[in-house]
Amino acid sequence: MKISKFNQPLLEVKAQALILFLFEEKLLSQEVLHIDQELEDILQTVIKEEKFEAKKGETVEVNTGTKLGFTRVLLVGLGKKKLLSSLILKRGMGIAIRTLAKSNVSNIGVFLPKMVGVKLSAEKIAESLVIGAITSEYQFTEYKTEKKDLPSRVEELCFYTNYPDKLFTKGLKEGEIIASAINRARDYGNHPSNKANPGYLVEMAQEVAKISKVRCRILDKEEMKQKKMEAILAVSQGAHHPPKFIILEYKGKPSSKDWLALVGKGITFDSGGFSLKPGNGMDEMKFDMAGGGAVISAIEAIAKLKIAINIVALVPATENLVSREAYKPGDIIGSAAGKTIEVINTDAEGRLVLADALHYAKKYKPKAVIDFATLTGSCVYALGVHVSGMLGNNEKLMQKIKLAGEESGDRVWELPLWEEYSKQMKSDVADLRNASTGNGGGAITAAAFLLEFIKEYTWAHLDIAGTAWSTEEKSYLGKGATGVGVALAVELVRKWK
Ligand code: BES
Ligand code: ZN
Ligand code: ZN
Repeated sequence: MKISKFNQPLLEVKAQALILFLFEEKLLSQEVLHIDQELEDILQTVIKEEKFEAKKGETVEVNTGTKLGFTRVLLVGLGKKKLLSSLILKRGMGIAIRTLAKSNVSNIGVFLPKMVGVKLSAEKIAESLVIGAITSEYQFTEYKTEKKDLPSRVEELCFYTNYPDKLFTKGLKEGEIIASAINRARDYGNHPSNKANPGYLVEMAQEVAKISKVRCRILDKEEMKQKKMEAILAVSQGAHHPPKFIILEYKGKPSSKDWLALVGKGITFDSGGFSLKPGNGMDEMKFDMAGGGAVISAIEAIAKLKIAINIVALVPATENLVSREAYKPGDIIGSAAGKTIEVINTDAEGRLVLADALHYAKKYKPKAVIDFATLTGSCVYALGVHVSGMLGNNEKLMQKIKLAGEESGDRVWELPLWEEYSKQMKSDVADLRNASTGNGGGAITAAAFLLEFIKEYTWAHLDIAGTAWSTEEKSYLGKGATGVGVALAVELVRKWK
């Protein structure tokens, strides 16, 4: 999608379709009223007669004939002006693009007069619209042999706006960077596990390391043994592809020794192991590396945006399979931190690989560690699919993440992590057990397990089990991996002080 900005008056716009955003107040700008005059008031008539209320997400397509440089106008509602957010803009734009692409429109103009009385900056508006546009028309087509059956795509998107050139264009550029990183994370997730194995994630990380100031290091099985990463090694025992521990460092602030660490669960396929998952829906466990994919893509975006920060992504990557070598319920395993763990359930493998990664993060003396993981089905029961669960040991960090979540659209909701839950993770025969029996609260007990490997640094855990992929097509986004976490990480890092 080619994206550009112009200052031209509406009368000179040349496009197949024009997008016009409206708030519930439905005030048409002078310029729009002017073109509507040329169109014999068709826009005002449609708004009135079709009862277009400009609620967020509402659209109406108006055929405007051949009098102007475009033949149709798509009115898109943004809801109440004072409630406008980046998320509403992203979705509004997404809905518009998907609606027009369905009618084979490939060249789109967006008329965007300066919005008075909204809280968002010109940059943020441009960025949100571009992210909405690019992510909405993403399609995962790698394995389709008949490309002609695919829905059409938008080739050109031109913004006609009187927002200041410099700021608006900067927002467009940054939006493109973030959106393409999000879409890349979606690719990692959508690729099936027979392609996207740990070695594939390594290749993707090495690709990101081609960006300036990014460095990639991989620990292979032997090095993991030396580092006593016995928890991830236990999970990988039944795997076909060798496990990899991916370290992707971006040194955007070489003058500082401060680090931020992002940890991402990288289970490229989770069969459950001997605690085998039911067949129904098991295919979706190819997405169990979504956290890992998100942190690799977050580094990509942060490095391309040249943000002045030192940040490292850690991805413990392995398959969780069944074989005669696979770890078994009842096994007692070690961990890099030295704690012993009784394996109650081989399907609670995510917390095991994260335990070793969270321990490894200590090496950086991080100001904060944030992990992203499709960790528990319980989180999906608790919160559904519209928000990620958040738990952690520091209110300030969680407040920052909550805000970044709201501003990026990757929203999070806090769950309690009280000490009572930790008791549920004690084992009779080892230091810890990897699953509690009964008493519910699975998303919380999982985090309580992780907490045992933290103690001395500031940490937050994001359970993205419900948000990492979607089984339903949305008006603004296709099915499959969502790339959740990438936009959130970028927003958080921008705000980091
Ligand atoms: N990857 C799954 C969690 C998951 C399930 C994510 C469904 C998205 C959708 C994780 O490894 C897992 O299986 N967790 C178990 C833990 C339990 C055995 C203690 C769960 O949540 O059921
Ligand atoms: Zn599992
Ligand atoms: Zn899993």
